[in-house]
Amino acid sequence: ASGVESDAPEVLLANPRGFCAGVDRAIQIVERALEIHGAPVHVLHEIVHNKHVLEGLRAKGTVFVKSLDDVPEGGVTVFSAHGVSDAVVEHAKSRGLQIIDATCPLVTKVHRQAIRYESQGREVILVGHPGHPEVEGTRGRIQGEVYVLSTPEEVAALEVKNPEQLAYVTQTTLSVDDTRDVIAALKERFPAIQGPDTKDICYATQNRQTAVKEMLPGVDLLLVVGSQNSSNSNRLAELGERAGIPAYLVDHPDQVLAEWMFGKKRVGVTAGASAPEDLVQMILERLEGLGVTAVTEADGERETVVFQMPVELQ
Ligand code: F3S
Repeated sequence: ASGVESDAPEVLLANPRGFCAGVDRAIQIVERALEIHGAPVHVLHEIVHNKHVLEGLRAKGTVFVKSLDDVPEGGVTVFSAHGVSDAVVEHAKSRGLQIIDATCPLVTKVHRQAIRYESQGREVILVGHPGHPEVEGTRGRIQGEVYVLSTPEEVAALEVKNPEQLAYVTQTTLSVDDTRDVIAALKERFPAIQGPDTKDICYATQNRQTAVKEMLPGVDLLLVVGSQNSSNSNRLAELGERAGIPAYLVDHPDQVLAEWMFGKKRVGVTAGASAPEDLVQMILERLEGLGVTAVTEADGERETVVFQMPVELQ
């Protein structure tokens, strides 16, 4: 601020950022399961989409598996925060596995909603990205066909059996703005469609996107702490790109390159819902090593959401 080091950029830290209640709970579930049952505890897929978190849990005796067939008979098995399909639950039961469900309660809410719509005789449209584990889990809760889409163009091309009997649900970690456009297109094309507005996008996704939008006018570079496969982290980086501000997802301090900083005055830093705060602090240390002088934390909404542990672990 004195002007002596006027070339060194400052950092503005977004608030809220990082862990949401669902991720926090999922990690605690694995840790409690390890305490109660001892290692190994098996987790189907990545418990949350963050490499740093996975490494920590692996070191304590967690084994991440791609298929339930990789879990030995009777093994303790945790379902990830993203949720699973009916078929996966049945498979786990048929194998006699000890199931602990770490599905985020806000994802479970979407499952219930989708099931309710189907029981009303409606075809279900799922606004989300095909292939993401949450989308595959939600899709697999519905017996009938589910239309998965994420753009207004796909809405225009959609062919349904009965336009009078339709409903939609959404993935929890989408872009608030894109989802609004897709839902508007759905309502325009299918005026009788039922749905929850944008409320399936969870509070954490919304708050992190709002915090970044508020910060963007004051920064000329955006760093999002998060892994490449984290949906909500990618949506945060997109906000920067759309505002014409270079934005990078970083998962390790070494990934932060000195050249990104050239000529920059203010670097915005945020973190996806699956990125731990100690990783954010490691990134800030790296930025300090690159000459950043001051770190200011933005004011933001305080989050007080806490989810209970499953009864069997309480
Ligand atoms: Fe749940 Fe939202 Fe986190 S759906 S896992 S609270 S990002």
